[in-house]
Amino acid sequence: MPKPCRNDVRPSAITPEPVYRQRRELLKTLALGATALAAGCSSAAAPPATATTAESTPGKALSVSRKTDNAGGEAQTSYKDATHYNNYYEFGTGKGDPAETSGSFHPQPWSVEIAGHAEQTGHFSLEDLLKGQTVEERIYRMRCVEGWSMVIPWDGIALGDLLKRFKPTSQAKYVAFTTVRRPAEMPGLNRPVLDWPYREGLRIDEAMHPLAILATGMYGHELPNQNGAPLRLVVPWKYGFKGIKSIVKIDFVETQPKTIWNDAGPEEYGFYSNVNPAVDHPRWSQKTERRIGGDGLNLFGNRIETKPFNGYAEQVASLYAGMDLRKNF
Ligand code: MTE
Repeated sequence: MPKPCRNDVRPSAITPEPVYRQRRELLKTLALGATALAAGCSSAAAPPATATTAESTPGKALSVSRKTDNAGGEAQTSYKDATHYNNYYEFGTGKGDPAETSGSFHPQPWSVEIAGHAEQTGHFSLEDLLKGQTVEERIYRMRCVEGWSMVIPWDGIALGDLLKRFKPTSQAKYVAFTTVRRPAEMPGLNRPVLDWPYREGLRIDEAMHPLAILATGMYGHELPNQNGAPLRLVVPWKYGFKGIKSIVKIDFVETQPKTIWNDAGPEEYGFYSNVNPAVDHPRWSQKTERRIGGDGLNLFGNRIETKPFNGYAEQVASLYAGMDLRKNF
């Protein structure tokens, strides 16, 4: 059974060298062994980079029509951390692997298949999909099921606005998403850690909710490969694994679609995956989260309390009225 929480990232891979060295010295003083430092994403692991200096944001700048802070003014995660501490198993299971191994992935040209219960289906180029859509920047809190979180400015379009264009029929009760599968460009696909391709799904009303977006960029620039170029899902009230990357298929379906993590471990990863401090993961608590970044000398990261629906309860709780969220986790 694969674990999303792999501890094989080297802190040096995600931390600027001086900060890393300083941290090592301090750790030695504290008589903590190198093994503790090597633990990548447990709560006791050293936090990754704390770059507060100006950072380059490669990739084309996007023209964004509106910016909204949906994170209540919380400090943004640095670009460096957001692009060097990733989960993208098609590029390896270590947090530093996607940044290291995704260089030969080609996100252009790109097309997406729209299939299933909709009046309009077919293959559409990314340019076609984005035509006429408003590109917005929204700062969202993101919470990973592994217990860490970030605050990221995403650039993209409202998922619901795009879906409506294809006129889903009344049989479209769910939306299923699939990631591209290119073993020649994605070294992680050669290992059977998951039942590829990566698949995710939402109920249609969740997909239509205005907080759900399809991101094409972050920090005002095109998405880097490791973050899901050229198109990925962002659903801020759910655990991060719902945010499927590099989408090539959007399917309107009648029954709840199978999702890759739910298939791999139904007891651990539910279909809904709403951020819920009251429902523990079988192997760890979900009550608190480690905010990535912050003070470089804060060895344990900034541990904060996790909020129901990741702080978006006011906007989304009504979607689940009457449901037992302990069963529908
Ligand atoms: N999408 C694909 N195709 N493959 C993956 O391994 N990992 C998921 C999600 N989307 C994943 C994926 C998980 S577990 C998380 S936490 C988020 O991507 C991480 O997104 P980020 O690396 O941009 O922070």
